[in-house]
Amino acid sequence: MKRWIPFILMISIALFTLLYMVFYGGNEPYVPKTDSPEIIYQQACAHCHGDNGEGSGLLYPAFSDDAYNLPEIKEKITQGTWLMPGFENIKGDTLNSLADFILERGYSKEKQ
Ligand code: HEC
Repeated sequence: MKRWIPFILMISIALFTLLYMVFYGGNEPYVPKTDSPEIIYQQACAHCHGDNGEGSGLLYPAFSDDAYNLPEIKEKITQGTWLMPGFENIKGDTLNSLADFILERGYSKEKQ
């Protein structure tokens, strides 16, 4: 019986991931109703990235300390990554100010 434990664990993890993706995928895309990057951050980003960009849990790391630049941040926001949804409704000036906001606050592990 014992030798099944790793398999059972793996299957539970796979199922959990699948369910998470299914439910996450069902969410309405976020549409910003304000120009304030601070409010947008709190509404759309903080539940994963933490109130101060410190991240949460294992899945959501703090913003990395690597130097990164505006175009990269903007690309992350609009296109997302494998763990982060893309925010295609954040664009133009709103996108610029949100990216500025993140860069300027210097969200990083070191500055916590
Ligand atoms: C569902 C959770 C989730 C939400 C919501 C989310 N992110 Fe992310 N984000 C992540 C994860 C996980 C990573 C890092 C892993 C990766 O790159 O795939 C990440 C990476 C990033 C990065 C790159 C950071 C680095 O150090 O490389 C930026 C910038 C970023 N997110 C900005 C935002 C902004 C701005 C918002 C809100 C508009 C947002 N994220 C919403 C999960 C999320």
